[in-house]
Amino acid sequence: MAYKNFILVCGGTACESSHSEEIYRNLIKEAEALGVSHDVQVVKTGCFGFCEKGPIVKVLPSESFYVEVKPEDAHEIIAEQVVKGREVTRLLYRKDKKSDTAKLEDIEFYQKQFRIVCVTAASSTRKASTSTLHATATRRSRKPSSR
Ligand code: FES
Repeated sequence: MAYKNFILVCGGTACESSHSEEIYRNLIKEAEALGVSHDVQVVKTGCFGFCEKGPIVKVLPSESFYVEVKPEDAHEIIAEQVVKGREVTRLLYRKDKKSDTAKLEDIEFYQKQFRIVCVTAASSTRKASTSTLHATATRRSRKPSSR
């Protein structure tokens, strides 16, 4: 099965304390309710490192980076992003209220980081999915500067 979208939900401690587990479950429920569970895989991840803006939800392949997500936002994320292919602009990260939205690599906090994704897949279906995630993460990563 080839998914069209991957929704990464931060499962780190800070985001979990702000209900990311409920966000994760709601996203899966909404995908089933709206009949698109075959189009999207919801994945729990480790900490994105941006805990102050959590819970964090990232959507691939659009690279939509949602911050301060609430469990009740799950319906809108599935209905807009997965069903209609549109970002939920009110949830996108902004440096301040006046600035444009930013993708993860545009956020100053991440610009000097080199992110590594380690994947261990159990089944061939899962291998295909995680390979896609790994390729995306690798493509977006920057090499550390040598000092
Ligand atoms: S725990 Fe979610 S960004 Fe750190």
